[in-house]
Amino acid sequence: MTALPAIQTDFTLRDHNTFGINAIAKRYVTISSLEMLQKVNAASEFSTLPRLVLGGGSNILLTGDFPGLVLHICMAGMAIVGADDGATYVRAAAGEKWHELVLWTLERGLGGLENLSLIPGSVGAAPIQNIGAYGAELKDFFHAATVFDFETATVSTLDKAACAFGYRDSIFKQSLQGRAVILDVTLALPKHWLPNLGYAELRQEVAAQGLDAPTAKAISDAVIAIRTRKLPDPAVIGNAGSFFKNPVVPAGQRDALMERYPQLVSYAQPDGSYKLAAGWMIDQCGWKGRSLGAAGVYEKQALVLVNRGGASGQEVLNLARKIQEDVLARFGVTIEPEPVVV
Ligand code: EPU
Repeated sequence: MTALPAIQTDFTLRDHNTFGINAIAKRYVTISSLEMLQKVNAASEFSTLPRLVLGGGSNILLTGDFPGLVLHICMAGMAIVGADDGATYVRAAAGEKWHELVLWTLERGLGGLENLSLIPGSVGAAPIQNIGAYGAELKDFFHAATVFDFETATVSTLDKAACAFGYRDSIFKQSLQGRAVILDVTLALPKHWLPNLGYAELRQEVAAQGLDAPTAKAISDAVIAIRTRKLPDPAVIGNAGSFFKNPVVPAGQRDALMERYPQLVSYAQPDGSYKLAAGWMIDQCGWKGRSLGAAGVYEKQALVLVNRGGASGQEVLNLARKIQEDVLARFGVTIEPEPVVV
């Protein structure tokens, strides 16, 4: 029998959230196996405490101390677990870093994940918000996830349909929120790989490399180059990537906005609606590069809020609210936070 893992008390989460917010967890435990998770879940002393499951901490805003138990998911391991005519199946434990998984697959000649290079965070967090960038989303490669359910204390496998993926959304942000822990993720990487260069900025970056037929590794390098140019490194300046989702509006609303703002950046969606570039709207409102206290808007990408040093979660939230008000007043569009606000 595994012993109950060491539980820390009054533990600072500053190094466990990429915003670098100094919030204190009443209790904190590192989980490195399913057995440990089951032990902690069964322990009566924790049954009344609120729970917070933490991966890489790259998509969370802590707005105060956490009066419960933080479970830091650290399970490790990556392996090729099967293949068929269409795909090679790769399984990675929830605690692995997403970008390390991307590099691991590319080193083995498995293409697919290159557009999702350098996204901060853990493998277990990737399905929760269906991470996406440069014309690709996790769901395009997702096969299944193994999940532990706190309420039933059971382990089950969820396939792609069961995860109900949407834009920065999944069942883990909906009915399973606060209830499920992802233990591992299995991805299906295509045997017949084709480059995905639909995103104009990525196409231009690859073209600048002068390659006729770019490899998956070359595309990964291009994505890394773009992200490094435009997005702040959380190790240098605290942030959680895009702070807002790009809002989706009906075609009529987008057309009316285009008449007033011909420069509006929008992307047609398969159902006829339009996704608007929230970063562009925030930029137009004059927020880019500005700060309120120690919370600020990143100079090179207005969608990203940053901790300029010692910001509290409340300061970041306050800045976010001001930005939301301005975007609503000017464009009549509500923009929603992307990270989980705790
Ligand atoms: N724009 C501005 N000013 C800004 C920021 C953007 O004018 O300050 C304009 C850009 O010029 C461009 C458009 O807005 O025409 C879109 O910008 P960008 O290509 O940078 O993408 P995004 O819509 O702002 C989304 C994702 C990013 C992802 C990029 C690339 C969301 C919420 N964000 O950003 O994801 O890397 O596309 O695919 O969907 C993340 O989720 O943390 C993240 C960084």
